[in-house]
Amino acid sequence: MAFTNLLIDDANGVRTITINRPDQLNALNRDTIAELDQALSAADTDKSVRVLIITGSGPKAFVAGADIKEFAHFAVEEGKALSADGQKKLFDHVEYMSKPVIAAVNGFALGGGLELAMSCHIRVASDNARMGLPEVSLGVIPGYGGTQRLARLVGKGKAMEMIFTAGMIKADEALQWGLVNYVVPQAELLAKCNELATAIMKNSPTALAAAIRAVNAGYEPGADGMKREVEEFGKCFGTADFKEGTSAFMEKRKANFTGA
Ligand code: COA
Repeated sequence: MAFTNLLIDDANGVRTITINRPDQLNALNRDTIAELDQALSAADTDKSVRVLIITGSGPKAFVAGADIKEFAHFAVEEGKALSADGQKKLFDHVEYMSKPVIAAVNGFALGGGLELAMSCHIRVASDNARMGLPEVSLGVIPGYGGTQRLARLVGKGKAMEMIFTAGMIKADEALQWGLVNYVVPQAELLAKCNELATAIMKNSPTALAAAIRAVNAGYEPGADGMKREVEEFGKCFGTADFKEGTSAFMEKRKANFTGA
């Protein structure tokens, strides 16, 4: 699959998707969102892909937001459609992937960029990263899930502060707030993400997919996360991975999961 705005790299079960518009600080225009939608669908169904890493091209930005130049002239209905379409194609798509997705936040993660990082299951930032939701400074609000996911990750008070001030926080502050899992020097960012991916890939793909669904259920309005956990837990008992994992434990050997 050939993309104009993305680079795809596969190594040892890890697919790295790099958003590649460095001249525009990897801002998310409509074409890039459509390509990411396709790339995510392809990764989801490709059994050779066990973990995904999403990052930005160049040393400066992960993603500096939705493409302001593209939406600056939109009217109300177009604005609404922009948000709904983007949420479905990219942000919810990432959150509901059946395999773990790690954001390698290599620089500015602003607006839609931070929203993309927050849709990922795990975030690792480089020490030069800066994060913020500057939308109110443009006369708009976060529209790609930011008002919801930021509050879930850092709490309502901090989220309100970040959205109201439109300010940026540094990587170490993001770590303190629980917005990112790790901060590492920029040169070590992808290595750290790959180290996490390697630890994850030792485990059952079917169980990982079930864990993603169960954790996500706790954040769905009206969904009963505990009930979903019971269902997902039960379903695991019918998988070949469960038989392999428990047999391997009893036979004192390493499990060889097939994801079935
Ligand atoms: N949408 C469209 N283009 C963007 C962009 C965005 N969100 N963020 C950066 N760019 C473009 C700039 O317009 C510039 O393009 P140009 O050279 O064609 O003029 C290029 O990327 C480089 O950005 P520049 O502003 O010159 O870099 P900087 O180092 O001076 O500042 C930022 C970096 C991130 C502070 C600044 O680009 C910025 O504030 N971007 C917008 C962030 C934002 O509000 N995001 C939320 C959108 S909802």
